[in-house]
Amino acid sequence: MPALKGCYLMIHFSRFFAFVLSAAASLTFAANFGPAGFIYEENQVPPYTTSDPLRCQDGSLVKDVQTWENKRRPELLEIFSREVYGRTPGGRLAGMHWEETSVDRAALGGQAVRREITLWFTENKNGPKARLLIYQPPGNAGKHAPWPVFLGLNFFGNQSVANDPAITLSPAWMRPSAEFHVVENRATEKTRGVHAGRWSIETVVARGYATATLYCGDLSEDRSEGLVRDVGALFKTKAVNERAPDEWGAIGIWAWGLSRIMDYFENDPELDASRVAVHGHSRLGKAALWAGAQDPRFALVISNNSGCGGAALSKRIFGETVQRINGSFPFWFAVNFRNYNGREDKLPIDQHELIGLIAPRPVYVASAQEDRWADPKGEYLGAKLSEPVYALYGKTGLGVKEMPALHYPVHGDGLAYHLRAGKHDINTYDWTRYLDYADRVLKKP
Ligand code: GCU
Repeated sequence: MPALKGCYLMIHFSRFFAFVLSAAASLTFAANFGPAGFIYEENQVPPYTTSDPLRCQDGSLVKDVQTWENKRRPELLEIFSREVYGRTPGGRLAGMHWEETSVDRAALGGQAVRREITLWFTENKNGPKARLLIYQPPGNAGKHAPWPVFLGLNFFGNQSVANDPAITLSPAWMRPSAEFHVVENRATEKTRGVHAGRWSIETVVARGYATATLYCGDLSEDRSEGLVRDVGALFKTKAVNERAPDEWGAIGIWAWGLSRIMDYFENDPELDASRVAVHGHSRLGKAALWAGAQDPRFALVISNNSGCGGAALSKRIFGETVQRINGSFPFWFAVNFRNYNGREDKLPIDQHELIGLIAPRPVYVASAQEDRWADPKGEYLGAKLSEPVYALYGKTGLGVKEMPALHYPVHGDGLAYHLRAGKHDINTYDWTRYLDYADRVLKKP
């Protein structure tokens, strides 16, 4: 009997351990993808219906470019402004001005020209300002003059994008990061080049492009307090929870900043403002898409792992949800977006319509296989389901029926997509594809 009892105990113990092991395994499993308690498997996605981008609010169907541009497109822009990102205060600023604060025509060991430009958004130099960093190929652009440009915001200050000791260290507030050497919310010398791999500057410049970047926190700090400082303060933005329901948030401010940089490009004779690719990773990819949707001057828009509120369809509720993103980052979107917490099915739009707003200009959406939090398939569908808008312009869009397999980039007519192995990031695999596509859609023949 005692032996039997022991045997029972052993069985119980082994069951218990098996349970603990499997629970731990499923926790790590979820941890690899994102926080536990969210959908990471396709067979768990509940049924959902996506809206037809060409169906107007009055029920009529858009059949031509004119109706799209005069009726449906403004309708969609209004819905995204009111319900998702908040309204962007209009246009150029009379007092905006700039100054080139440094230039080195033999930077990166002679491989590039490096320039730093300070942009002031008001006539008064005490108002908000942002520090733009530009690298471009050395010498004369020849038949490619002036240089086409990749423009993107960065997470940890300009000094983080290249191993170049001459870049001015950002003095601005920053989210803490032990990994990237941000100490007490400030960049340290050790932050130099920490994201060099994410920018591939030597490669981009060697391929004949300029690359320009600005720290997102110069426009609006990536925290609630940011809304009432810098650019937010300039436009008298209210505190995060006191905002009018359709007032903008940080993503709106970042997108606005990208357009102001475009205003600057239009005045820089070395850069070609008609050939600018606006790009962004993750939260900054959301901003790049919103900038591209609002500002038709961007010739190409690149969304790298932009996920929820970016290229991924919200209605799939795969990975990050509307409730979760509004909870974790209450200052990113308009207060109205919170009306869809746990009610994605009630959204009058979905993210494929954001991409449709960019048509017929090309959009490149990229996902990473392990980045389930951002929902790779949802990102693919964001691009795919915008195709009817491209069709109005005689373009096929992606032109594939199924989601492309791993490492099978699809560079279509108006839309491009790839899924790469690995985690939430932007690396040389991504850059090589973006450059290939840009050669096709931005380079002069
Ligand atoms: C978080 C957030 C995402 C965002 C990402 C990032 O994971 O939930 O929405 O895209 O941060 O910006 O890296």
